[in-house]
Amino acid sequence: MSEPINVQWFPGHMAKTRRLITESLPLIDGVVEILDARIPIASQNPELSKIINNKPRIILLNKADIADEKMNKLWIDYFKSQGIITLPVDCKTGKGLNGFTAQISNQLADRLEVFKKKGMTGRTLRLMVVGIPNVGKSSFINRMAKGGKAKVADRPGVTRGNQWFTIGKGIELMDTAGVLWPKFDDPIVGENLAFTGAVKDIVVDIQLLAPRLLEIINRDYPEMLKERYKIETGDFTGLELLSAIGKKRGMLISGGEIDYERAAMTVLDEFRGGKIGKITLESPPCK
Ligand code: G4P
Repeated sequence: MSEPINVQWFPGHMAKTRRLITESLPLIDGVVEILDARIPIASQNPELSKIINNKPRIILLNKADIADEKMNKLWIDYFKSQGIITLPVDCKTGKGLNGFTAQISNQLADRLEVFKKKGMTGRTLRLMVVGIPNVGKSSFINRMAKGGKAKVADRPGVTRGNQWFTIGKGIELMDTAGVLWPKFDDPIVGENLAFTGAVKDIVVDIQLLAPRLLEIINRDYPEMLKERYKIETGDFTGLELLSAIGKKRGMLISGGEIDYERAAMTVLDEFRGGKIGKITLESPPCK
């Protein structure tokens, strides 16, 4: 295996997001943290618990449809062992979201009890969505909003122009999501964010990125490469694999050379769209 490539990337806006979330905290009862099932470590902000000040949270392992099912199960067990309820979901089709409101009511039952004791009957539970760019925050909000439809207008006590969607009996979702950037010092984290497209391709050299991804798939899911591209797998470098794919797909430039840029973009696009197969790039930490 080669060394991870260096993703030059500046997380900007972190302070702004933190402020936005902190300001919204008094308005919310819980947080929906959306992670990418293919990279649950890289897509998680390790400071989230600190930022949300231990508000209850639920994890949605999104894009579960294009992640390795076996690994989804391991990740769910892992988060459960940390005491965090986690649901595998596909916010593109809505699969897995049926149980969401029931889970929330369950998890925040104590809070409802407190409201009742204070005589605040009818007080709804309010949730905020957070996650890194491209993880599926808008897809989730749009899906859930469809059910409840009614957009609740601003009202006393709910300031700053936040709009809320009723998404289930007594549950509302803030219509804007907190865009969180994970902090990373670890080059593997940067690379995984680039593979999935969370870090824009303009800041990465895709002709380095695609061969690295191919090396990893060749190591962990070789049969998928064989099946998708009809190439030999085994003891090859990432560049050799990319070259074989370019050749098979007839991606050539004048003089019969492989068009590496096109082949690299094809591999990345097909990985991101789940076309190579259901692939997870990160395993839960060992106990
Ligand atoms: P964001 O608000 O967090 O930035 O993410 P957004 O919902 O815009 O989703 C980013 C991309 O991920 C979209 O694809 C969306 O369709 C896709 N996506 C979201 N959730 C899922 C999921 O559970 N499974 C799969 N397979 N894809 C998901 P896009 O290419 O930008 O648009 P399009 O393909 O919908 O046209």
